Amino acid sequence: MKILVTGGAGYIGSHTVVELAKAGYSPIIVDDLRCSQEIMLSGLKSILGKKIDHYAIDAASQDLEKVFIDHPDLGGAIHFAAYKAVGESVQQPIKYYENNILATSNLLKLMLKYEVAHYVFSSSCTVYGQPDILPVTETTERKPAQSPYGRTKQICEDLVFDLMQGGAKLAPVLLRYFNPIGAHESAAIGELAIGVPNNLVPFVTQTAAGLREKLTVFGDDYNTPDGSCIRDYIHVTDLARAHVAALEYLQKGGKIQVFNAGTGQGSSVLEILRTFERVNNIKLNYEIGPRRSGDIEKIWANCDLIEKELGWKAQLGLEEALKSAWQWQQTLNAQY
Ligand code: UFG
Repeated sequence: MKILVTGGAGYIGSHTVVELAKAGYSPIIVDDLRCSQEIMLSGLKSILGKKIDHYAIDAASQDLEKVFIDHPDLGGAIHFAAYKAVGESVQQPIKYYENNILATSNLLKLMLKYEVAHYVFSSSCTVYGQPDILPVTETTERKPAQSPYGRTKQICEDLVFDLMQGGAKLAPVLLRYFNPIGAHESAAIGELAIGVPNNLVPFVTQTAAGLREKLTVFGDDYNTPDGSCIRDYIHVTDLARAHVAALEYLQKGGKIQVFNAGTGQGSSVLEILRTFERVNNIKLNYEIGPRRSGDIEKIWANCDLIEKELGWKAQLGLEEALKSAWQWQQTLNAQY
């Protein structure tokens, strides 16, 4: 079955393309590579032993219709294509509103026109803000988003809810991701940080590789056991498998629309650094700095619903994720 994957050359998108192909689907990538590079496509080819169908077009543009015309037998779409840097979204909200919302509405419009019903959307735990009660379940209230990026995720979720309310012929699953880390076991694809990394793990691997002098831990005075922030870090391969499970759920007529995709375990920033050092036998140069504005103190997921309904559960641990992230950094070092 053919599945359209917008942002399929990106971090989570590329890993999902691998899992789709392994499960017997034919992924079709739509990605203009503005947030990715050729290395991801060549990595996919080396993992899968064949070239994956790729359209270098903007998901927010009218050109997207060509994919629907070329493939009248599309069985569904997984929508990743979006900007995702929280800090940048505060500086450039129009860039985020324009791209993230337009790409989503454009794709959904075409799905309705061509009667492609199965839709899996990459949402984020950012829609919960700082929750009052942990872990968060899918019924935890969505707080006002803390950034324009987060707001675009809420709006894209709302668009789906509004379409369903209006009786649209759509069968959606919104996956609320926690913090994806790690890379494919082959080290042929992984997270490409273009410029200075925003996220913790690419900053860690670049510091370990000597590309950055030191890492700053953003605050050790939070109300957590070691004072640093807590997140639910999930291996990107596990997260990729959740998308395949979501498609299979839709094919069986599943009706629940929102699922958390995490591990159910919270880890602090300092735990991540110590685990990285231990499993890779590397000493990291880091210092404690001030809090980063906009950071929430702690969040982790309750994943009972996704396990019950989709039969999906994270299988890989922090150690595997942090080893694979370091191996991917070696691939990048060799390449550039
Ligand atoms: N951190 C540091 N130093 C760094 C980078 C990060 O201490 O150099 C800390 C952050 O303060 C935070 C933790 O590491 O406590 C994780 O930070 P990330 O930037 O890796 O991830 P976030 O939790 O801030 O954001 C991620 C995604 C967003 C998503 C959000 C949902 O980047 O796309 O999770 O919570 F919306």
